[in-house]
Amino acid sequence: MSLAVQIDRNGGPEVMQLVDVPVGDPGPGEIRIRHKAIGLNFIDVYQRSGLYQLPMPLKLGMEASGVVEAVGEGVTHLKVGDRAAYASQPPGSYCEVRVMPAKCVCKLPDAISFETGAAMMLKGLTAQYLLRRTLPVEGLNPGDFVLFHAAAGGVGLIACQWAKALGLRLIGTAGSDAKCQLARDNGAEFCINYSTEDFAAKVKEITGGQGVKVVYDSVGKDTWDKSLDCLRPFGLMASFGNASGAVAPFAPGILGNKGSLYVTRQTLFSHITTRERTQAMADELFDVVLSGKVKIHIDQTFPLAQVQEAHRALEARKTTGCTILTL
Ligand SMILES: NC(=O)c1ccc[n+]([C@@H]2O[C@H](COP(=O)([O-])OP(=O)(O)OC[C@H]3O[C@@H](n4cnc5c(N)ncnc54)[C@H](OP(=O)(O)O)[C@@H]3O)[C@@H](O)[C@H]2O)c1
Repeated sequence: MSLAVQIDRNGGPEVMQLVDVPVGDPGPGEIRIRHKAIGLNFIDVYQRSGLYQLPMPLKLGMEASGVVEAVGEGVTHLKVGDRAAYASQPPGSYCEVRVMPAKCVCKLPDAISFETGAAMMLKGLTAQYLLRRTLPVEGLNPGDFVLFHAAAGGVGLIACQWAKALGLRLIGTAGSDAKCQLARDNGAEFCINYSTEDFAAKVKEITGGQGVKVVYDSVGKDTWDKSLDCLRPFGLMASFGNASGAVAPFAPGILGNKGSLYVTRQTLFSHITTRERTQAMADELFDVVLSGKVKIHIDQTFPLAQVQEAHRALEARKTTGCTILTL
């Protein structure tokens, strides 16, 4: 048996309940993993609230680290006793122990702690595919400007550091002066407080009227329109989240008027469909973390039993960097 966080209807943090669930043996292609730490992500909020609809009852959580306890037929990259970490479908990582597909579970290097492993897989693989694979038609080169919203958050702080390591000039946005300072301390060359400043005007000023090559936008509804105004001609609007709500439908003609812009809506789960690609992405993430170029900031820790408080803090914009749930 395992304690697990489950919901039987969509709603606020109060719908999350700790329940006892049975845990079986892994089938073909699966492992059983006993968690050491669990990562909190904004997607957990969307799944809980119902912005992303999934069948009920629903176990929550997409990220964790732990020790492999049993291995099913056909799994060759993991063995019993391995330290491991993952960002993976299906949801259900808010628990002590689970059976799950092995495909997206990676061996965790000895020099990376369980806490860091749990905090960084979903957010770090996201920063990886955004900065390395979600590129404008002309590509990204050292010295290019990009705009990254919510730069002091979990994905944001990783992206600030990684962009700097790639030589990119990252302009961040964040909701307070203290968060802006944190983003600058972590590699953002500029950071705009979008609660008090017009970020589009500021981006134009910083880039000498040119605009940026890419906007990485996870805020959604509140930032969409102005983000289009931050792009230079043929620039890429890379939407990857909706922390403020879903983006409203729009007429494609607007992209022509604003300089023949490109738009994409990205999700990590299109990138990690195969074991090989997941491992290649994770290897790049492990490299930047082990080299010290990217530090994983775990700024909040909650016991699993206080998961409701953790969600409240994340939704109220009270967190910075990564948040983990401990067992
Ligand atoms: N598509 C993908 O593959 C993928 C993968 C991972 C994450 N994501 C998305 O990336 C974003 C960051 O994820 P994360 O887990 O690292 O979360 P996070 O950035 O730590 O937290 C979300 C941040 O969004 C900002 N925000 C702006 N408006 C908000 C609002 N109305 N309500 C709440 N927050 C608001 C807040 O920062 P400020 O106070 O500074 O504004 C908040 O701290 C999320 O939107 C998530 O869904 C997408």
